Amino acid sequence: MAPKPLIKVAAICGSLRKASYNGGLIRSAIELSKSIDGIKMDYVDISLLPLLNQDLEVDGKYPPAVEAFRQKILESDCFLFASPEYNYSVTAPLKNAIDWASREPSVWADKTAAIISAGGGFGGGRSQYHIRQTAVFLDLHIINKPEFFLNAFQQPSKFDSDGNLIDSESKEKLKDVLLSLKEFTLRLQQGMQFVKSNITPKPSIKVAAICGSLRKASYNGGLIRSAIELSKSIDGIKMDYVDISPLPLLNQDLEVDGKYPPAVEAFRQKMLEFDCFLFASPEYYYSVTATLKNAIDWASRAPNVLADKSAAIISASGGFGGGRSQYHLRQTAVFIDLHFINKPEFFLNAMEQPSKFDSDGNLIDSETKERLKDVLVSLKKFTLRLQQGN
Ligand SMILES: Cc1cc2nc3c(=O)[nH]c(=O)nc-3n(C[C@H](O)[C@H](O)[C@H](O)COP(=O)(O)O)c2cc1C
Repeated sequence: MAPKPLIKVAAICGSLRKASYNGGLIRSAIELSKSIDGIKMDYVDISLLPLLNQDLEVDGKYPPAVEAFRQKILESDCFLFASPEYNYSVTAPLKNAIDWASREPSVWADKTAAIISAGGGFGGGRSQYHIRQTAVFLDLHIINKPEFFLNAFQQPSKFDSDGNLIDSESKEKLKDVLLSLKEFTLRLQQGMQFVKSNITPKPSIKVAAICGSLRKASYNGGLIRSAIELSKSIDGIKMDYVDISPLPLLNQDLEVDGKYPPAVEAFRQKMLEFDCFLFASPEYYYSVTATLKNAIDWASRAPNVLADKSAAIISASGGFGGGRSQYHLRQTAVFIDLHFINKPEFFLNAMEQPSKFDSDGNLIDSETKERLKDVLVSLKKFTLRLQQGN
């Protein structure tokens, strides 16, 4: 067997202070990486980057510090972000660095990353969610597991007074993050080689199409019907509708002797048979519908039947086209270990006139159908990539 390629990791810290806990995590990660075969991790300093100002972009060139930084990002296979939480979000130094590297041509695209953090009570978790949200546009694939949050203020401290990580259990957890990042990076790189190869025929992908709205003339139902129709014109995809309306509302008291109610068992069994999922997710009050959340929660009960599979989200709703429900779904996906495609995103304002739907909720707009088809093609490729990279 050919030796596995060396994975180059850029380690980036969102805090600039000397005794930073997050800096301590990065130093520890670099030290730990030396004991992992096939990884080379380098610290990339973001403290010298100017604050992003598009006026600094002259004749398609960036300031020298930015050009040097972008080159380092370009040369890396993947990234380790240590992300402190400032006011429930990422720090300005980190966002600034992310934004500079995202300028044309983005040097993040289609690479992998892991996020770690040390902070207050929630260990920096809220900053991690914001990076994940940004990562969708950047087309970064962030590992789901293991997650790493560390409460830096709990006594006895896991850091010394210089911010060095001194707790051996945390070091073990940190090492597991690096191992997972290495494995996911190799998996996506190798999977991409398969997708691009001339090997034919490629395995066929089974997609479960799930709708978060129950009404007959649902726009999201219309998207699902359209997707199923469009899938017939794509080689190597078989898409089936999975009805989630018969599922009872989740109540753990319904779980008896390790068994679920019959409708739930049947649904879970079906989920197991699919390679990936297409969720049509309407937005109810800035989040997913209870109908969809209920189905996801049942599927996530042990053993989780969604784990390590891929998915795409589409939505039709009010002004923002269901975008906020998509973000909530992506957040849930971290725990249930679903890998969502980043691109293309698909949001549709269903209220806009002239309507893209008829009165039965059927999608009638040909341009929108093309965009929907692009989602399916991307889901197929990403699923093959994940499966074949193993
Ligand atoms: C402007 C500012 C806002 C902060 N907001 C939060 C917060 O929302 N949540 C949190 O857990 N800690 C918050 N903190 C505390 C940081 O977690 C703490 O300063 C931590 O040490 C920062 O990471 P570092 O040690 O790597 O610099 C905040 C700190 C600053 C300076």
